[in-house]
Amino acid sequence: MQTILILDHGSQYTQLIARKIREQNVYCEIHPYNKIPQITEDIKGVVLSGSPYSVTDAAAPNTDLSMFKGKIPVLGICYGAQYMVYKSGGKVEKSVIREYGRAKLVSVNEQSPLLKGVKQDSQVWMSHGDTILELPQDFEVICSTSDVQNAGYKIKGEQTYAIQFHPEVHHSEFGSVLLRNFVIDICGCEGSWTPASFVKSTIEDLKNKLKDDKVVLGLSGGVDSSVAAMLLHRAIGKNLTCIFVDNGLLRKNEFEDVLQSYQNMGLNVIGVNAKKDFYSVLGGVTDPEKKRKAIGKTFIDVFDREANKLKDVKWLGQGTIYPDVIESSSVKGPSQTIKSHHNVGGLPDYMKLQLVEPLRLLFKDEVRRVGKELGLKDELLKRHPFPGPGLAIRILGDITEEKVAILQEVDNIFISSLKHWDLYDKVWQAGAVLLPIQSVGVMGDERTYERVVALRAVESVDGMTADWCHLPYEFLAEVSNKIINQVKGVNRVCYDISSKPPATIEWE
Ligand code: XMP
Repeated sequence: MQTILILDHGSQYTQLIARKIREQNVYCEIHPYNKIPQITEDIKGVVLSGSPYSVTDAAAPNTDLSMFKGKIPVLGICYGAQYMVYKSGGKVEKSVIREYGRAKLVSVNEQSPLLKGVKQDSQVWMSHGDTILELPQDFEVICSTSDVQNAGYKIKGEQTYAIQFHPEVHHSEFGSVLLRNFVIDICGCEGSWTPASFVKSTIEDLKNKLKDDKVVLGLSGGVDSSVAAMLLHRAIGKNLTCIFVDNGLLRKNEFEDVLQSYQNMGLNVIGVNAKKDFYSVLGGVTDPEKKRKAIGKTFIDVFDREANKLKDVKWLGQGTIYPDVIESSSVKGPSQTIKSHHNVGGLPDYMKLQLVEPLRLLFKDEVRRVGKELGLKDELLKRHPFPGPGLAIRILGDITEEKVAILQEVDNIFISSLKHWDLYDKVWQAGAVLLPIQSVGVMGDERTYERVVALRAVESVDGMTADWCHLPYEFLAEVSNKIINQVKGVNRVCYDISSKPPATIEWE
């Protein structure tokens, strides 16, 4: 398969480069700069990412360019541009002012294949502390901004290009045009990698790999496991058994509704009511990490119990997606990037199953598109993310069935109102939190001491950073009234107006 290789030097934008290239229907892979894979015929070009380092730092990434430079097309971005200049004897120095933010391309060589259609005076996004002061011989300038003479260059006699700005960032007006020029015109990729082609080739690969083997997969109700299940289902049909566990911490009616829709999709799915197992280990546990661990362990026990009832299973299907794959072999090392609390799953070694992960090459938005291609309903594909430990981390303090029932009602009013007001799709994630305090109220002539809930709704791209949503006051007023009137035991509703960072999305 035609592939663009992105060598990561640790830039915050590396994944964005990959997503932008894939928007051109071109497949690409990110690899750390110090683990360059074999350059096979499939690799049509290489992109060198930016980096938090300066080329002159002792610890600066030192990429071995000899494997590809001059042989196949190369595009250096920011650090990638400066690094190639530095290695060829040009002058790269710390800029007097840090060049950050919007700039204008005051001159553009439109004859350059990289810049075809990139307009003079268009905006680009700069973010670097170093700048290229002098280009080596055989390097020619192809664009400049008012402050940066050598904003872009090409090496004569090679298909090697570089730019000091970031075409992958939304604020670079013709960034997508530039990346398209590189991957399609310069590298010669066809641009035929689409959800439909992915589905077709993945199903074929899965058939060849799995043959008549049996696979078991845990469904969570979320997008990733559902799409992974559908791909496997298309490939091996009844040899796939799915297990969907009710941990008693799901949203109101979610277990029944989702189970039904899985069955409607034709999946061979076993629904397991394991509420008791979970509630019994959670009794009296208040520490959030202990809750997560207890839930993770119980899930494995329940899954294991059910999977053991199946005969001759050889594979465990998982909905792992590309960001997890990249992060586990990232330049910075897995420990810095992966949050422990997001990895509560996993199975005990003794199950000795091999892993099959049909989505391990896809970003989240691509998983949704593949899901659509497979005919999954929007209701499932557009669901907000929901944490594995469910309502347990939205009930601050210890967990009881009574508290779960209260929070389910509150959450249900909030979420169904978002849908009713046509706000659900505009919000990235929403939910309600039950606080461990009681607040005073009046009802008739009596004082009451009842529970307080907080509503949380955020906008985000990937959950790493988030802004609170500016929901209309009229909407909040209606939801608050409904909750207080309809949910017994709650007499106060708050709306969380904290952004991440410094707050997180969940309260625990
Ligand atoms: P935070 O609270 O870290 O959440 O800002 C970021 C995203 O991760 C989800 N989240 C979890 N998901 N297990 C999960 O599967 C967890 O323990 C967990 N904690 C937080 C959270 O809902 C949000 O989407």
